[in-house]
Amino acid sequence: MTGTPNITFTKPAIPARGSLMVLLDDTLSLTGIASELDRKLNGAIARSISTAEYKAKAMSTLEILSPGDGKYDRVVVLGLGDAGKLTENDWMRAGGAAMAALPGERQATVLLVRPDGRNIRGREAASFAAGMKLRSYSFDKYKSKPEGKNSDGGKPKPVRICVGGHAAARRAWAVEDAVTGGTILARDLVNEPANTLGPIEFATIAAELSSLGIKVEILTEEHMRGLGMHALLGVGQGSERPSRMAVMSWEGGRKRTKPIAFVGKGVVFDTGGISLKPGAGMGDMKGDMGGAAAVTGLMHAVASRKARANVVGVIGLVENMPDGNAQRPGDVVTSMSGQTIEILNTDAEGRLVLADALHYTIDRFKPQIVVDLATLTGACIVALGHDHAGLFSNDEELTGRLTAAGKATGEKVWPLPLGPEYDKLIKSKVADMKNIGGRWGGAITAAQFLKRFVGETPWAHLDIAGTAMDSPATEYSRSWASGFGVRLLDRLIADCYEG
Ligand code: BES
Ligand code: MN
Ligand code: ZN
Repeated sequence: MTGTPNITFTKPAIPARGSLMVLLDDTLSLTGIASELDRKLNGAIARSISTAEYKAKAMSTLEILSPGDGKYDRVVVLGLGDAGKLTENDWMRAGGAAMAALPGERQATVLLVRPDGRNIRGREAASFAAGMKLRSYSFDKYKSKPEGKNSDGGKPKPVRICVGGHAAARRAWAVEDAVTGGTILARDLVNEPANTLGPIEFATIAAELSSLGIKVEILTEEHMRGLGMHALLGVGQGSERPSRMAVMSWEGGRKRTKPIAFVGKGVVFDTGGISLKPGAGMGDMKGDMGGAAAVTGLMHAVASRKARANVVGVIGLVENMPDGNAQRPGDVVTSMSGQTIEILNTDAEGRLVLADALHYTIDRFKPQIVVDLATLTGACIVALGHDHAGLFSNDEELTGRLTAAGKATGEKVWPLPLGPEYDKLIKSKVADMKNIGGRWGGAITAAQFLKRFVGETPWAHLDIAGTAMDSPATEYSRSWASGFGVRLLDRLIADCYEG
């Protein structure tokens, strides 16, 4: 990763040199420390604002080079728009915009002081810092030469955030940094090409989480055969690389409390199998393990911040390849649950992996709730685009909690329906069900399929096909892989299942 910032918090004070940032809202009045700085610079800030007709729109910046007779490299004004309306996610966006405007050659100082004189809470300052760190992420390990104006060969950028109540900010950042680290792990996993990240390599990365105090078990094909996971194993049988399942548990809550469980689709590469995908855009299918990446990043986050909750993460790791031994359309497999499945399209493989992973998780851990994440259907991208994940659930309370967590974090979800009319569409002539519905409602029939493997457990399915990869640029993400899901589910845990 290029130039990870090294962030520290101190109390507000105007530094003597380096790069400097001040906040301004749309009243355009320089107050407090900003006016003090402007006096020091003989009015250069006020003059630049007027010359540039700068309006301090939210997330816009104005750069003043070499002011104060060259004492400073630059002073950057960061616009907040209406400062009274900023959400936590806006503070993250502001941090991202700040990072983009502060190159890393020397010490950068952010005077995180609200122009309206109100206090910035610790959590807001921490969100700002998270935005800075996430913005500076880039997946460049395979570039033989650094590129771009912000490249510095990977040296950490020193960033000082000056904020009233810096002790509270520092405490909040310890938590927020853990979540940010989880998001970055998920991004790294999704960005990593499939030639270097097969099921075994992914399982090895999961196993390394034991250094954070997570218990990790890796199930081999032999184990899974013994358990009867033929739905999952069938997907991997055309690959030279054997399938794996990783089971991660973090026991930070009370002994007797049932865990909450997260299950991820980890198709390290999805060619479609014998129902081969067309060539265009197939390279994106290296990201078909986005669900597993989010679960792994989430486990990393909860362990790093020592969440007071019992959390289980289960990921099914397979590669979907066409081969002499690959499964065929028309094949019938028996899942671990005992239900039989007619495979009519080998490209509808994610649901087969999840069927066994969900059943195993519920059967073994009897969790309070289970949430699965999967880059499951192109149909979900057609329905919702890249800004909301599809949310399917059998439980209204869980739907409400996930929706609230999405609003708070900016990792948004949108509810889509389930119902017997859709369930009918996966009836099979020869088995208990088939693995595809008809042409329409593809995201729903996929969810309907999963529902058959969760019984009465409160369950939610997040279709993250549109949000995990090929992500729109935001102030705090320029990465193809967003790391979607980690912040959302960490918030769900923190707000609803801790303490
Ligand atoms: N991994 C794909 C879904 C996908 C497509 C994710 C594009 C991200 C971007 C999934 O395995 C798949 O191939 N789904 C099929 C299902 C169909 C065969 C019923 C689809 O969506 O076309
Ligand atoms: Mn597929
Ligand atoms: Zn897939």
